[in-house]
Amino acid sequence: MSLKTVRTVADLRAQVAAWKDTGERVGFVPTMGALHEGHLSLVRLARTRARRVVASVFVNPTQFGPNEDFDAYPRDEARDAALLASAGCDLLFAPTVAEMYPQGAATTVTVSGVSEPLDGQARPGHFAGVATVVTKLLNQVQADVAVFGEKDYQQLQVIRRLVIDLNLPVEVLGAPTARADDGLALSSRNAYLTEAERPVAARLNQVLREAIAELNAGARVDAAEAKAIEALRTAGFARIDYVEVRDAADLSRLGPGPVDRSSRILAAAVLGRTRLIDNMAV
Ligand code: PAF
Repeated sequence: MSLKTVRTVADLRAQVAAWKDTGERVGFVPTMGALHEGHLSLVRLARTRARRVVASVFVNPTQFGPNEDFDAYPRDEARDAALLASAGCDLLFAPTVAEMYPQGAATTVTVSGVSEPLDGQARPGHFAGVATVVTKLLNQVQADVAVFGEKDYQQLQVIRRLVIDLNLPVEVLGAPTARADDGLALSSRNAYLTEAERPVAARLNQVLREAIAELNAGARVDAAEAKAIEALRTAGFARIDYVEVRDAADLSRLGPGPVDRSSRILAAAVLGRTRLIDNMAV
């Protein structure tokens, strides 16, 4: 499988236009690189929906806060390219920061509502950075279908909202979270975990599963959330940003009583120097 790499929007558009001219559907998987099996499952899913698949690797500076891990974020383009080729990707778009944010760039996409709670509170400005870069990438690639992981569930809902609101001509597909055998959601940031922290990290998903079992047995939302937070503290997480049960579509708050509609439990917690997130359907 041969993989071509392009670095400019002009080269990207020329290749995608050539495919579309011959009637080929195009799928798109945006990433920040440091690829793992989760990303490759997105490429394979895109492959089932389109004849050609484009992936982007761009560590987007505008979605990192000043004290976050932009500089430390793992980067290995050669490895990423080899993995993408093995998963059936046809084209890698790997732009520079200058290509993505030209001199004088002054436009930001903000999505109110769904991007405000949870990571919107814990990481101010994060979703404006995500919404802006994803809007740009979707405009640049002009794919028929774009695939995003449910691992970043709030991000997925933000993107669904902006695609509707801005009439972007692309189908957004969410893909199930890829997990290690002990339940830990695969993430590029898992590389930061020490050997001692790795088994503790798996508690995040186990605690969510325990909470779901209780909610399904009729437990109150407020009690299940409080119990999950306590369990994470006991496991050794240094900071728990949130464990919350929310409406599955717009992420609005549920009442404190038993779950009464389609919902999602979402969590973010810090272990050592690693901030982990996870979520599951309730
Ligand atoms: O999920 C990610 O890797 C990023 O947030 C994305 C969607 C590629 C935007 O930079």
